[in-house]
Amino acid sequence: MNEFFQKDIISVRDLDKQKLETIFDATEKIIQMDPNQRREIARGKTLGYLFFEPSTRTRLSFQAAIASLGGTSLGIADIASSSAQKGESLADTVKIMSIYSDVLVLRHNLDGSSRFAAEVSTKPVINGGSGTEEHPTQAIQDLFTIRKEKKKIDGLKIGIIGDLKYGRTVYSLLYALGHYDVEVHLISPETLKVRPDSVYEIKKRLSFTESTNIDEYIDDLDVLYVTRIQKERFPDEEEYLKVKGSYVIGLDMLQKMKDNAIILHPLPRLEEISTDVDNTKQAKYFEQAEYGKYTRAALLGLILNRDGF
Ligand code: NCD
Repeated sequence: MNEFFQKDIISVRDLDKQKLETIFDATEKIIQMDPNQRREIARGKTLGYLFFEPSTRTRLSFQAAIASLGGTSLGIADIASSSAQKGESLADTVKIMSIYSDVLVLRHNLDGSSRFAAEVSTKPVINGGSGTEEHPTQAIQDLFTIRKEKKKIDGLKIGIIGDLKYGRTVYSLLYALGHYDVEVHLISPETLKVRPDSVYEIKKRLSFTESTNIDEYIDDLDVLYVTRIQKERFPDEEEYLKVKGSYVIGLDMLQKMKDNAIILHPLPRLEEISTDVDNTKQAKYFEQAEYGKYTRAALLGLILNRDGF
């Protein structure tokens, strides 16, 4: 039996290096597979999605992924149109979805929401983003992109810039990077540094520097991972306005970077990467979004098939 069969994916902290590598190998297999053969992997299976927060890539890539495996999807993309609006509890909503589907994806604004959903669901639950806590499938796709584009992960110098306090993708990425031999530089406004309690554990495995100044590291980085300032998570709009536009990666910044460095972003991008960077060879964020479809297909294939595929 494969170790992902019927298992939840709640936190990157539940995935060791060997499990991550299993997903990456399965993703390579998905990419190379004949489409007809791929459509047998989840034939007749249903993905149920519950998105209590906006999403473009995560939901659509999961839907594209299950479709590519021959399965189907149903769900709620706009929670205002569901019975949650009438006051139905998250537990009941999840229970109902687990009756109608074979695997669930949940995105919710509360930390711990996916862990809770997994407890009440009779079907495996995948965390599609829980509060400011984690976004595990994003980290899987981020690491896969690095591996694909840089041909390795070990030995790289990785800068992570932007909203490191509220950006959940940052935490999942750091937890995953803890399994590799990398040098990490965190760059953010003083008020948006990583939450010390959330990185307390990871500090034992991963060494990182913290700075407000991107110029200190920009010419040395192999990977620059840019994040959006998470406006919706600020308790106070005034605080957001103080840090809005703190860093903008434009062509001038690109000039300072190594020729073979890559720029990643989980997207959506606002002003933190100017659009004229999009056509440069360093910009890999659209490839990153594409890889998300394959990594999610691999994960679904492993969760839904006892012996893998
Ligand atoms: C991210 C998220 O929802 O955390 N989006 C995504 O899934 N790619 C990042 C963000 O919203 O800034």
